[in-house]
Amino acid sequence: MEHFEFYSPVKIIAGKYALNKLCFVLQESLGVKKPILVTDAGLKTAGVVEKVEKLLRRTYSDLEVFYEVPPDSSLKVVMDIYRLFVAAGCDGVVALGGGSVIDTAKGLVLVVSAEGKDISDLQGVDVIRKRSVPFVVIPTTCGTGSEVSRVAVIEDRERNKKLAFASDALFPDATFLDRDAIETLPGNLVTATSMDALTHAIEAYVSVQKNPVSDAFALTAAKEIFLNAVDGAKGDVNAKCKLLVASTCAGMAFSNSMVGMVHSVSHAVGGVAGVPHGVANAILLPHVMRFNMGRDERTAFLYGEMFRYLMIFSHAVAGKNLVDAVECLMDTLHKIASLPRRLRDVGVDKEQFEEIAKQAVLDGSAVFNPVAFEEEDVMAVLEEAF
Ligand SMILES: [Fe+2]
Repeated sequence: MEHFEFYSPVKIIAGKYALNKLCFVLQESLGVKKPILVTDAGLKTAGVVEKVEKLLRRTYSDLEVFYEVPPDSSLKVVMDIYRLFVAAGCDGVVALGGGSVIDTAKGLVLVVSAEGKDISDLQGVDVIRKRSVPFVVIPTTCGTGSEVSRVAVIEDRERNKKLAFASDALFPDATFLDRDAIETLPGNLVTATSMDALTHAIEAYVSVQKNPVSDAFALTAAKEIFLNAVDGAKGDVNAKCKLLVASTCAGMAFSNSMVGMVHSVSHAVGGVAGVPHGVANAILLPHVMRFNMGRDERTAFLYGEMFRYLMIFSHAVAGKNLVDAVECLMDTLHKIASLPRRLRDVGVDKEQFEEIAKQAVLDGSAVFNPVAFEEEDVMAVLEEAF
């Protein structure tokens, strides 16, 4: 048997009334006396923050709240929240939001665990190994999987760079998957984030670090996304909840098996041309799949294996193979939720291709792709996706 490791220590509390257990978990299981709620202004406007705040204030009348995490958070925001955390005498962290909020809260958790060291000194792998503060997450999108991962990416505005942080200290104690957190998410964001999750599932399933345990999570995630992406984009709340759970499953798969070339190129497309992560993944996914299956028989076999599994639910899957099925799903999402299908539709310029290709081959995900690739391969994929 080949060696593999799988670690996913986050307690998952899911379903319609999951959030009703939030205070019990904080107070009884984790011993929190005064939490800070970290969230963003969009969720406040949508009324999501009010619901969670109300629940928390029943137990924690002196709750501290930071409402202003921006969509593209930064190291400075982390340190601002840390100062608030210390001044208010907090002893627990609750993140309510999408990727930016969750990763900012992870930054806070690292700084607290490092007794106030500046976040810019904590980047890299396992710089802080032990978390010293209870931490729970309530995801409000169906994509990042950050609620079950050991990584965070936060922007350093001064140096115009994204910094990566990885440590077991970043695994939350618990994550709450509740319809109240997801029901107001608009169709276009449901679509973009669930296509990020589908990319996590497919890339994890063919990664060089794949293993039978992460495969199980990847297959379940892919199945639920094919079954629910269209209804979720149309606003069906039950479908959104299933996508939320699928996203967490995909997160557990890829935080152990890792992701590959789609993410390498999409990180670069995001950095160079500012394309949102889920949208860039959705555009690139079928083209990278064609590249991988054209170069590697085993990967082609694995795509076939996932496709045959999905065909059990044939009413939700179209086409003759997995790439076809992905393309058909995305064409439908293009029609009903305006999911962009080409790089030229999202403001990418051909003159940016060289820079994107340069960054993509250096990306941390590149080594986990089943096929090694060079700049010219990225250029070819970008041409096809243009
Ligand atoms: Fe992703």
